[in-house]
Amino acid sequence: MSTHCERSSRFVVFSNKATDHTNCTDNHRSALSAPSAALFLIAVLIFVVGKCVALSATPADSVEAKTIFRKRCTVCHTFGKGVKVGPDLKGVTERRTREWLLRFIRASSSVIQAGDPIATKLFREFKQERMPDWSDLSPKQVVAILDYFAGDGPLQKEPDERDASTATAGEIEMGRQLFSGVTRLNYGGRPCHTCHSIRGGESKGGSLGPDLTGAYFKYRDAALTDFLRRPCFPREPESSASGYLTPQESFELKAYMAKAGGSIPIRPPASRNPANDYVNRTREERRIL
Ligand code: HEC
Ligand code: HEC
Repeated sequence: MSTHCERSSRFVVFSNKATDHTNCTDNHRSALSAPSAALFLIAVLIFVVGKCVALSATPADSVEAKTIFRKRCTVCHTFGKGVKVGPDLKGVTERRTREWLLRFIRASSSVIQAGDPIATKLFREFKQERMPDWSDLSPKQVVAILDYFAGDGPLQKEPDERDASTATAGEIEMGRQLFSGVTRLNYGGRPCHTCHSIRGGESKGGSLGPDLTGAYFKYRDAALTDFLRRPCFPREPESSASGYLTPQESFELKAYMAKAGGSIPIRPPASRNPANDYVNRTREERRIL
């Protein structure tokens, strides 16, 4: 499969847009005989479907997962705060298999009825209350909830609350691009560089605002995080826009300032935590998502 096609297939998986997938096969069809084109199409379909099934949560899914957890699960469950009506769900993705959890969450009553030993034991232990069957949640939604649990659920910090020293080289680089305007800010608005400079940055930035080389050390991590949650200057149209910086952008900018002001240790992209997959993606990939 050519690179073009791989890219398109991935695009299909992320965006669920069948159109690009069609383009992909069309491009190839011209170069292939009919039977091999059919085989190719089947191969692409298997590839795409396989990826879809294996697909873990996208950022939108994980936002939804948080909401579902808060609205539907916290009445009976805590995450790390002990037994409530049902068991504490912290660590549940380690003590049970994904397959079991997927079945149990969507239809615990039939899993219990079928005599599953773990379910039976839980049922006895928590017999004063039954868990409803969450059959209206799609498998994809349940997978997103499980990913959320695996990534430390509600104990997870917002991306901008991370300490700048945990930034990867990629995040610092993204911070530089956002600062200088090479990459556009998600909510639009003028790049920081229009009004601020950073020593050793691309070129001399604007001087309406102070030089930010020392900003990280002036504010320190938590105060700078807080500062970046609101525009630093009453600006139009940004001040009337729906948001200022996304938490991830805010983190990347903070990390870039921290790096510019002294040197913070740079870590390689670390974990396979699904929450970090988003973090380690390039801006282009994020836009596709
Ligand atoms: C009305 C209370 C109630 C609500 C709401 C509820 N649960 Fe439960 N849950 C329980 C009880 C009770 C158990 C123990 C098994 C049983 O008795 O059914 C349980 C068990 C579980 C287990 C197995 C835990 C383990 O240690 O293996 C998981 C996973 C789970 N629930 C997930 C969820 C999710 C996800 C939601 C929200 C979508 C949810 N629960 C909402 C009551 C609830
Ligand atoms: C339209 C011009 C403008 C833009 C664009 C701008 N700022 Fe500012 N910024 C200012 C001004 C002016 C101040 C000083 C405000 C004050 O002291 O009350 C400031 C202050 C700051 C400070 C505090 C500096 C200190 O030493 O106290 C930080 C941090 C900061 N801006 C970060 C940013 C970041 C990050 C961006 C890009 C997302 C950005 N700014 C975009 C004008 C701007």
